Amino acid sequence: MKFTEYVFLFVFFSFIGWILEVIFRSFQAKAFINPGFLKGPYLPIYGTGALILTICATHLEGSSLPVKGLVYLFVTTGLEFITGFIFDGCLHTPLWDYSEQRFRIKNYVCLQFSLYWLVLAFAFEYLVLPVYLSVFNLLNPVAVDIFAIVVSGVMFADWTIRCAGIILEKKGKRKLLSDDDESEFMSIAKSLIDHPDVQKLADVRHHHYKTRFDHSLEVAWRSFLISRKLSLDCDATVRGALLHDLFFYDWLREGPRLHGFRHPRICLKNAREVTVLSKKEEDIIIKHMWPLTIIPPLYPESWVVCFVDTCCTMKDYVTGNGKVRVPK
Ligand SMILES: [Fe+2]
Ligand SMILES: [Fe+2]
Repeated sequence: MKFTEYVFLFVFFSFIGWILEVIFRSFQAKAFINPGFLKGPYLPIYGTGALILTICATHLEGSSLPVKGLVYLFVTTGLEFITGFIFDGCLHTPLWDYSEQRFRIKNYVCLQFSLYWLVLAFAFEYLVLPVYLSVFNLLNPVAVDIFAIVVSGVMFADWTIRCAGIILEKKGKRKLLSDDDESEFMSIAKSLIDHPDVQKLADVRHHHYKTRFDHSLEVAWRSFLISRKLSLDCDATVRGALLHDLFFYDWLREGPRLHGFRHPRICLKNAREVTVLSKKEEDIIIKHMWPLTIIPPLYPESWVVCFVDTCCTMKDYVTGNGKVRVPK
Protein backbone atom coordinates (compact mmCIF):
# COMPACT_ATOMS: atom_id res chain seq x y z
CA MET A 1 0.00 0.00 0.00
CA LYS A 2 1.21 3.51 -0.75
CA PHE A 3 1.03 6.45 1.65
CA THR A 4 -2.30 7.95 0.49
CA GLU A 5 -3.91 4.51 0.65
CA TYR A 6 -2.97 4.31 4.32
CA VAL A 7 -4.36 7.83 4.80
CA PHE A 8 -7.60 6.79 3.08
CA LEU A 9 -7.85 3.75 5.34
CA PHE A 10 -7.32 5.97 8.38
CA VAL A 11 -10.02 8.43 7.25
CA PHE A 12 -12.46 5.68 6.30
CA PHE A 13 -12.24 3.82 9.62
CA SER A 14 -12.30 7.07 11.59
CA PHE A 15 -15.72 7.62 10.00
CA ILE A 16 -16.86 4.02 10.60
CA GLY A 17 -15.74 4.31 14.25
CA TRP A 18 -17.74 7.51 14.59
CA ILE A 19 -20.87 5.76 13.31
CA LEU A 20 -20.35 2.85 15.74
CA GLU A 21 -19.90 5.19 18.69
CA VAL A 22 -22.90 7.33 17.70
CA ILE A 23 -25.07 4.22 17.67
CA PHE A 24 -23.61 2.84 20.91
CA ARG A 25 -23.69 6.07 22.92
CA SER A 26 -26.95 7.42 21.53
CA PHE A 27 -28.61 4.10 22.32
CA GLN A 28 -27.31 4.26 25.90
CA ALA A 29 -28.30 7.91 26.37
CA LYS A 30 -31.59 7.60 24.44
CA ALA A 31 -30.64 10.82 22.61
CA PHE A 32 -28.27 11.74 19.81
CA ILE A 33 -24.69 11.96 21.08
CA ASN A 34 -21.88 13.26 18.89
CA PRO A 35 -18.95 11.34 20.37
CA GLY A 36 -15.32 12.36 20.56
CA PHE A 37 -13.24 15.45 20.74
CA LEU A 38 -13.54 16.76 17.18
CA LYS A 39 -16.45 18.50 15.50
CA GLY A 40 -16.56 16.43 12.32
CA PRO A 41 -17.99 12.93 11.87
CA TYR A 42 -14.80 10.99 12.57
CA LEU A 43 -13.00 9.42 15.52
CA PRO A 44 -9.26 9.27 14.77
CA ILE A 45 -8.67 6.66 17.48
CA TYR A 46 -10.55 4.13 15.33
CA GLY A 47 -8.69 5.22 12.19
CA THR A 48 -5.38 4.92 14.04
CA GLY A 49 -6.38 1.52 15.43
CA ALA A 50 -7.35 0.26 11.96
CA LEU A 51 -4.08 1.58 10.55
CA ILE A 52 -1.96 -0.12 13.22
CA LEU A 53 -3.90 -3.38 12.93
CA THR A 54 -3.52 -3.37 9.13
CA ILE A 55 0.24 -2.91 9.46
CA CYS A 56 0.37 -5.62 12.17
CA ALA A 57 -1.76 -8.04 10.10
CA THR A 58 0.56 -7.54 7.13
CA HIS A 59 3.68 -8.22 9.19
CA LEU A 60 2.17 -11.09 11.19
CA GLU A 61 0.94 -13.03 8.18
CA GLY A 62 1.54 -16.73 8.96
CA SER A 63 2.06 -16.15 12.72
CA SER A 64 0.14 -18.24 15.25
CA LEU A 65 -3.11 -16.99 16.80
CA PRO A 66 -1.63 -16.57 20.33
CA VAL A 67 1.18 -14.39 18.96
CA LYS A 68 -1.28 -12.29 17.01
CA GLY A 69 -3.57 -12.11 20.05
CA LEU A 70 -0.76 -10.82 22.26
CA VAL A 71 0.28 -8.21 19.70
CA TYR A 72 -3.31 -7.07 19.12
CA LEU A 73 -3.99 -6.87 22.84
CA PHE A 74 -0.84 -4.82 23.35
CA VAL A 75 -1.35 -2.35 20.47
CA THR A 76 -5.09 -1.72 21.02
CA THR A 77 -4.73 -1.30 24.78
CA GLY A 78 -1.59 0.78 24.27
CA LEU A 79 -3.40 3.06 21.83
CA GLU A 80 -6.31 3.46 24.25
CA PHE A 81 -3.94 4.21 27.14
CA ILE A 82 -1.95 6.82 25.17
CA THR A 83 -5.15 8.51 23.95
CA GLY A 84 -6.61 8.50 27.46
CA PHE A 85 -3.38 9.93 28.87
CA ILE A 86 -3.23 12.74 26.27
CA PHE A 87 -6.84 13.83 26.74
CA ASP A 88 -7.24 13.31 30.47
CA GLY A 89 -3.68 13.70 31.73
CA CYS A 90 -2.52 16.52 29.42
CA LEU A 91 -5.63 18.32 28.12
CA HIS A 92 -7.80 17.55 31.19
CA THR A 93 -10.64 16.64 28.85
CA PRO A 94 -11.43 12.96 29.52
CA LEU A 95 -13.21 11.22 26.66
CA TRP A 96 -14.14 8.11 28.64
CA ASP A 97 -13.95 6.93 32.20
CA TYR A 98 -13.36 3.38 33.41
CA SER A 99 -13.44 4.30 37.10
CA GLU A 100 -16.37 1.92 37.65
CA GLN A 101 -14.57 -1.01 35.97
CA ARG A 102 -12.42 -3.62 37.69
CA PHE A 103 -8.82 -4.38 36.62
CA ARG A 104 -8.10 -0.96 35.17
CA ILE A 105 -5.06 1.28 34.81
CA LYS A 106 -5.68 4.93 35.72
CA ASN A 107 -9.25 4.96 34.29
CA TYR A 108 -7.75 4.93 30.78
CA VAL A 109 -7.85 1.18 30.09
CA CYS A 110 -9.56 -1.81 31.71
CA LEU A 111 -9.45 -5.56 31.20
CA GLN A 112 -13.06 -5.90 30.01
CA PHE A 113 -12.70 -3.37 27.19
CA SER A 114 -9.21 -4.62 26.29
CA LEU A 115 -10.78 -8.04 25.68
CA TYR A 116 -13.46 -6.36 23.52
CA TRP A 117 -10.69 -4.69 21.50
CA LEU A 118 -8.95 -8.04 21.11
CA VAL A 119 -12.10 -9.63 19.66
CA LEU A 120 -12.64 -6.60 17.43
CA ALA A 121 -9.01 -6.77 16.27
CA PHE A 122 -9.45 -10.37 15.09
CA ALA A 123 -12.81 -9.48 13.52
CA PHE A 124 -11.06 -6.61 11.78
CA GLU A 125 -8.32 -8.83 10.34
CA TYR A 126 -10.49 -11.75 9.23
CA LEU A 127 -13.83 -10.10 8.37
CA VAL A 128 -13.54 -6.37 7.86
CA LEU A 129 -10.13 -5.93 6.21
CA PRO A 130 -10.71 -8.43 3.34
CA VAL A 131 -14.06 -6.78 2.48
CA TYR A 132 -12.53 -3.32 2.75
CA LEU A 133 -9.61 -4.23 0.46
CA SER A 134 -11.84 -5.83 -2.19
CA VAL A 135 -14.09 -2.73 -2.29
CA PHE A 136 -11.11 -0.40 -2.11
CA ASN A 137 -9.56 -1.99 -5.21
CA LEU A 138 -12.63 -0.94 -7.21
CA LEU A 139 -12.12 2.76 -6.40
CA ASN A 140 -10.48 5.27 -8.72
CA PRO A 141 -6.89 5.81 -7.42
CA VAL A 142 -6.92 9.55 -8.20
CA ALA A 143 -10.23 10.03 -6.37
CA VAL A 144 -8.79 8.06 -3.44
CA ASP A 145 -5.71 10.33 -3.30
CA ILE A 146 -7.77 13.55 -3.45
CA PHE A 147 -10.31 12.35 -0.91
CA ALA A 148 -7.61 11.14 1.49
CA ILE A 149 -5.62 14.39 1.33
CA VAL A 150 -8.63 16.74 1.61
CA VAL A 151 -10.40 14.91 4.45
CA SER A 152 -7.22 14.28 6.45
CA GLY A 153 -6.43 18.02 6.05
CA VAL A 154 -9.86 18.90 7.42
CA MET A 155 -9.35 16.47 10.32
CA PHE A 156 -5.96 17.97 11.09
CA ALA A 157 -7.39 21.51 11.07
CA ASP A 158 -10.27 20.37 13.30
CA TRP A 159 -7.75 18.80 15.71
CA THR A 160 -5.49 21.88 15.80
CA ILE A 161 -8.36 24.28 16.42
CA ARG A 162 -9.87 22.11 19.16
CA CYS A 163 -6.51 21.76 20.95
CA ALA A 164 -5.81 25.49 20.68
CA GLY A 165 -9.32 26.26 21.96
CA ILE A 166 -8.89 23.99 24.99
CA ILE A 167 -5.44 25.36 25.84
CA LEU A 168 -6.70 28.96 25.57
CA GLU A 169 -9.73 28.09 27.64
CA LYS A 170 -7.62 26.46 30.35
CA LYS A 171 -5.27 29.44 30.43
CA GLY A 172 -8.22 31.83 30.67
CA LYS A 173 -9.74 29.79 33.49
CA ARG A 174 -6.45 29.60 35.34
CA LYS A 175 -6.09 33.35 35.08
CA LEU A 176 -9.62 33.79 36.35
CA LEU A 177 -8.67 32.01 39.53
CA SER A 178 -6.85 35.17 40.56
CA ASP A 179 -9.22 37.61 42.25
CA ASP A 180 -6.78 40.42 41.50
CA ASP A 181 -7.17 39.86 37.76
CA GLU A 182 -10.92 39.98 37.93
CA SER A 183 -11.13 43.00 40.20
CA GLU A 184 -8.60 44.93 38.11
CA PHE A 185 -10.57 44.12 34.96
CA MET A 186 -13.89 45.03 36.56
CA SER A 187 -12.55 48.30 37.99
CA ILE A 188 -11.85 49.39 34.40
CA ALA A 189 -14.89 47.82 32.75
CA LYS A 190 -17.69 48.23 35.30
CA SER A 191 -18.94 51.71 34.36
CA LEU A 192 -19.11 50.80 30.66
CA ILE A 193 -20.66 47.37 31.28
CA ASP A 194 -23.44 49.02 33.32
CA HIS A 195 -24.18 51.63 30.64
CA PRO A 196 -27.65 51.05 29.09
CA ASP A 197 -26.28 51.20 25.51
CA VAL A 198 -23.73 48.49 26.26
CA GLN A 199 -26.37 46.45 28.09
CA LYS A 200 -28.51 46.64 24.94
CA LEU A 201 -25.92 44.43 23.21
CA ALA A 202 -27.14 41.54 25.38
CA ASP A 203 -30.32 41.47 23.26
CA VAL A 204 -28.50 41.21 19.93
CA ARG A 205 -27.27 37.95 18.48
CA HIS A 206 -23.75 38.24 17.09
CA HIS A 207 -22.11 34.91 16.23
CA HIS A 208 -24.79 32.20 15.90
CA TYR A 209 -25.61 31.57 19.56
CA LYS A 210 -23.53 34.30 21.17
CA THR A 211 -24.81 37.79 22.01
CA ARG A 212 -22.82 40.84 21.03
CA PHE A 213 -22.46 41.65 24.74
CA ASP A 214 -20.82 38.29 25.46
CA HIS A 215 -18.56 38.65 22.43
CA SER A 216 -17.47 42.18 23.46
CA LEU A 217 -16.86 41.05 27.03
CA GLU A 218 -14.80 38.08 25.87
CA VAL A 219 -12.69 40.22 23.54
CA ALA A 220 -12.18 42.77 26.33
CA TRP A 221 -11.17 40.11 28.87
CA ARG A 222 -8.73 38.26 26.63
CA SER A 223 -7.25 41.53 25.34
CA PHE A 224 -6.84 42.69 28.93
CA LEU A 225 -4.87 39.54 29.82
CA ILE A 226 -2.54 40.02 26.85
CA SER A 227 -2.13 43.76 27.37
CA ARG A 228 -1.23 43.30 31.00
CA LYS A 229 1.32 40.64 30.14
CA LEU A 230 2.88 43.03 27.60
CA SER A 231 2.69 45.99 30.05
CA LEU A 232 0.42 47.93 27.69
CA ASP A 233 -2.34 50.40 28.53
CA CYS A 234 -4.98 48.08 30.04
CA ASP A 235 -7.56 50.85 30.54
CA ALA A 236 -7.60 51.77 26.88
CA THR A 237 -7.53 48.11 25.81
CA VAL A 238 -10.54 47.12 27.93
CA ARG A 239 -12.60 50.23 27.13
CA GLY A 240 -11.86 50.09 23.40
CA ALA A 241 -12.55 46.36 23.23
CA LEU A 242 -15.83 46.66 25.14
CA LEU A 243 -17.06 49.27 22.66
CA HIS A 244 -15.53 47.83 19.47
CA ASP A 245 -18.81 46.29 18.27
CA LEU A 246 -21.26 48.85 19.69
CA PHE A 247 -23.92 48.64 16.98
CA PHE A 248 -27.48 47.48 17.44
CA TYR A 249 -28.67 45.86 14.21
CA ASP A 250 -28.59 42.19 13.23
CA TRP A 251 -25.75 42.43 10.72
CA LEU A 252 -26.84 39.27 8.91
CA ARG A 253 -30.26 40.75 8.05
CA GLU A 254 -30.06 44.52 8.50
CA GLY A 255 -27.64 47.43 8.48
CA PRO A 256 -25.55 49.03 5.75
CA ARG A 257 -24.14 47.20 2.78
CA LEU A 258 -20.50 46.19 3.24
CA HIS A 259 -21.11 45.91 6.97
CA GLY A 260 -17.58 44.55 7.58
CA PHE A 261 -16.00 47.72 6.21
CA ARG A 262 -18.47 50.22 7.61
CA HIS A 263 -19.48 49.12 11.11
CA PRO A 264 -16.27 50.35 12.86
CA ARG A 265 -17.32 53.95 12.04
CA ILE A 266 -20.85 53.30 13.29
CA CYS A 267 -19.42 51.83 16.51
CA LEU A 268 -17.12 54.81 16.99
CA LYS A 269 -20.05 57.20 16.63
CA ASN A 270 -22.12 55.20 19.15
CA ALA A 271 -19.18 54.88 21.54
CA ARG A 272 -18.66 58.67 21.56
CA GLU A 273 -22.21 58.99 22.85
CA VAL A 274 -21.48 56.57 25.68
CA THR A 275 -18.21 58.03 26.96
CA VAL A 276 -15.36 60.40 26.23
CA LEU A 277 -12.78 58.42 24.26
CA SER A 278 -9.03 58.85 24.13
CA LYS A 279 -7.22 58.80 20.76
CA LYS A 280 -6.03 55.29 21.52
CA GLU A 281 -9.53 54.02 22.33
CA GLU A 282 -10.82 55.55 19.11
CA ASP A 283 -8.05 53.83 17.17
CA ILE A 284 -8.91 50.48 18.78
CA ILE A 285 -12.55 50.78 17.70
CA ILE A 286 -12.00 52.15 14.22
CA LYS A 287 -9.21 49.69 13.31
CA HIS A 288 -10.58 46.50 14.86
CA MET A 289 -11.51 45.16 11.42
CA TRP A 290 -8.05 45.73 9.91
CA PRO A 291 -7.05 44.85 7.15
CA LEU A 292 -10.59 45.63 5.90
CA THR A 293 -10.12 49.17 7.14
CA ILE A 294 -6.86 49.46 5.10
CA ILE A 295 -5.01 51.90 7.42
CA PRO A 296 -3.25 49.71 10.01
CA PRO A 297 -3.70 50.15 13.77
CA LEU A 298 -1.59 52.93 15.26
CA TYR A 299 -1.12 51.56 18.79
CA PRO A 300 -0.04 48.15 20.12
CA GLU A 301 -3.30 48.01 22.09
CA SER A 302 -5.23 48.31 18.79
CA TRP A 303 -3.24 45.38 17.37
CA VAL A 304 -4.06 43.30 20.45
CA VAL A 305 -7.81 43.93 20.21
CA CYS A 306 -7.82 43.41 16.44
CA PHE A 307 -6.00 40.07 16.88
CA VAL A 308 -8.16 38.89 19.79
CA ASP A 309 -11.37 39.89 17.99
CA THR A 310 -10.35 37.85 14.94
CA CYS A 311 -9.39 34.81 17.06
CA CYS A 312 -12.60 34.96 19.12
CA THR A 313 -14.72 35.24 15.97
CA MET A 314 -12.96 32.31 14.31
CA LYS A 315 -13.30 30.26 17.48
CA ASP A 316 -17.03 31.01 17.69
CA TYR A 317 -17.64 29.91 14.13
CA VAL A 318 -15.36 26.92 14.00
CA THR A 319 -15.70 25.35 17.44
CA GLY A 320 -19.25 26.42 18.21
CA ASN A 321 -18.13 26.76 21.81
CA GLY A 322 -20.14 29.58 23.35
CA LYS A 323 -19.27 28.99 26.97
CA VAL A 324 -16.51 31.35 27.95
CA ARG A 325 -15.88 32.30 31.54
CA VAL A 326 -15.30 36.01 31.85
CA PRO A 327 -15.86 38.23 34.86
CA LYS A 328 -19.44 39.48 35.22
FE1 LIG B 1 -16.64 44.10 14.56
FE1 LIG C 1 -15.96 41.87 17.22
